[in-house]
Amino acid sequence: MQKVISATVEGFQCTGFEMNSILTGYARVKAKWKGIPSNTASFINQDFWKTDLSKYNNVTVFLAPGVMEVLGRKLENELPDETRVIACRFPFPDWTPTATEDEGLDQTWAYDMDAIRKLSTQA
Ligand SMILES: C[S@@+](CC[C@H](N)C(=O)[O-])C[C@H]1O[C@@H](n2cnc3c(N)ncnc32)[C@H](O)[C@@H]1O
Repeated sequence: MQKVISATVEGFQCTGFEMNSILTGYARVKAKWKGIPSNTASFINQDFWKTDLSKYNNVTVFLAPGVMEVLGRKLENELPDETRVIACRFPFPDWTPTATEDEGLDQTWAYDMDAIRKLSTQA
């Protein structure tokens, strides 16, 4: 939720997927309280595993380390080449990052889908 709100401050139009309905409601209230229009940040109570993510060209994830490998395969199947993916706290085990920032609990990794695909065809 915080990632979505922060991204709107940077000028992005964002959609957050959260399957916990209480957290989804809280995110909507917090965004409204911060004066963020609902067409700039929307929060959808939905399982992203059942969601086609192919229309997104910036994706930020903050999930448990055990799902990152299979999530990488889903994103490789769905996202356009120009998409940038940011992983928070836990990196994708099979991907080579373009950049990384911060350390410890705040570390993030940036991946570009075109570079990920080029490397996976070379392997
Ligand atoms: C590590 S927490 C992220 C905390 C917070 N959203 C943030 O960005 O600081 C992971 C969140 O992902 C949600 N989540 C896990 N699996 C999901 C799924 N398949 N679809 C949607 N949300 C999911 C959990 O309910 C949890 O709130």
